[in-house]
Amino acid sequence: MEKSGALTLLKQHVTSTSLIGHCLSTAAVMKGLAKELGEDENLWETIGILHDIDYEEIHEDMNKHGLAGYDILRAAGIEDNIALPIKRHNHMIFGTDYTTPVEICLQVADSVSGLIVACAYIKGGKITEVTAKTIAKKYKSPSFAAGCDRNRIALGDSLIPRERMYEIAVSELIEIKEELGLN
Ligand SMILES: [Fe+2]
Repeated sequence: MEKSGALTLLKQHVTSTSLIGHCLSTAAVMKGLAKELGEDENLWETIGILHDIDYEEIHEDMNKHGLAGYDILRAAGIEDNIALPIKRHNHMIFGTDYTTPVEICLQVADSVSGLIVACAYIKGGKITEVTAKTIAKKYKSPSFAAGCDRNRIALGDSLIPRERMYEIAVSELIEIKEELGLN
């Protein structure tokens, strides 16, 4: 599945511009982490785009998050190599159980993408001015972008050194800055 096909499917279930932006930014980080780890960049990017496909349809019932997404994806003919990591990315259900690189990196990308976009906002929307140092500093400030779960970001430390992960994530987000409405 290519990025454009995944995005078309996402938009059949999600209308919020900010949620679509979140999915695109999670996907961009996933792609960069896949490249770093020698994994399938296209597959990981697709998982990132589709990971919150159920979010508007579950009406904030987080017990359904991921599980409903799995059903939507399977009904659309999407294979388990994409649909299963999405089902299991709900850390409130499966959070003690991530061992594979794709599942760990989806936790990282889902959380760090929001932290970095928030860093861009305090720089007047200029993501090109966000550095690994900026991100590291804001990581340590729990009240900043408080919804970005630091524990989920820390899961990635078993795979990629933290500073390197920040560099990859921010460079991938810079690549799609126009799509995110950033400079
Ligand atoms: Fe997400």
